Amino acid sequence: MLNDFAFKRIIGALSWKWHRRHIHLPEVATALRADIQAASPNHIAFTGDLTNIAAESEFIQGERWLKDFGDGNLISFTPGNHDAYVPISWDRTIGRLNAYMSSDMRQTESFPFVRLRRNIALIGLNTAQPQKLLSAGGAVGPAQRQRLADQLRTLRERGFYRVVMIHHPPAPGLALPIRSLSDAAEMKDLLESEGAELVLHGHNHEHSLNFLESKFGQIPIVGVPSASMTKTSQHDIAAWNLYSITRSKSQWHTNVKIRQWNADIKQMENQNAFDLPPRS
Ligand SMILES: [Fe+2]
Repeated sequence: MLNDFAFKRIIGALSWKWHRRHIHLPEVATALRADIQAASPNHIAFTGDLTNIAAESEFIQGERWLKDFGDGNLISFTPGNHDAYVPISWDRTIGRLNAYMSSDMRQTESFPFVRLRRNIALIGLNTAQPQKLLSAGGAVGPAQRQRLADQLRTLRERGFYRVVMIHHPPAPGLALPIRSLSDAAEMKDLLESEGAELVLHGHNHEHSLNFLESKFGQIPIVGVPSASMTKTSQHDIAAWNLYSITRSKSQWHTNVKIRQWNADIKQMENQNAFDLPPRS
C-alpha cells in the first residue's frame, strides 16, 4: 500500500517533471558556480536546498556538483526541507555531505556546526525534517536552539563576527505559514537576546533583507534566490551575494554585492551593491 511519504515523493517527482525542471536549469547553476569561483571568495555559504525529493541519486549528483565547486574547507552547507523530503537514511543522503558540515569546535552533536575562518565564525543549523504533504516547514528544535545560544554567547565573547546559516527564515512572518519554521518565534527571541552579526537563509527563492533588533545592534537577515532559477514571473532569478567583511575603528563593516543571472545574454552580471549598518 502506498504510504503518505511515498505519495509525497511521487507528487514531488511529478512537480519536478511538469514544472520545476523547466525553471531550475543546470546551466544556470553551473554559470553561477563559475561566477563565484571567478570571484575567489574566502568562503562559500550554501543554505540549501540541494535536492528535490531527497533521493539517493540526487545526493550522489549533488555531491559531485559540490566537489567540482570546492572542498569542505571552502564550502559550508546547511540542509533544506527538500533535502529531508521524506524519512531518509542520513548516511546515504545528507550524510554524504559531512565534509561540508563539520565543526571546528569540540562537540558531540552535529548541529549547529561552527566553522572558524580568521575572525569570522559560521554557525550552521539543520532545519530539515520530513513534513506532511504540501508542507515545506521545518524546525530548529529546543536542543539545537540551546546549543546555538551557548555558541553565539561564547563566540561573541571571543570577538568573532557571527554568521548564522539556516535554510528557513528564522523569524515569524518571513515565510508563508506552511513554509515556516514551527519555532520561528523562539528563534527570533534567541537571536534578539544573543545577537548575531549576519543571518543567511534560503527557501523563499527571493532577495530579502530584514532586521531584528538585539541589544548588541541590528541583525541583518538576508535571503537569496535559488541558484538555478531562470526567468519566471513567480520567483527572483538566480543570484548570489558577495559579502566583504572588514573591521576598523572597533566596528564591523559589511558590504554586499549581488550578482544575478541575465537570461537574455545568458551571463551573470552585477545587480546591486549596498552596505549593512556597521556593528560594534
Ligand atoms: Fe526550501
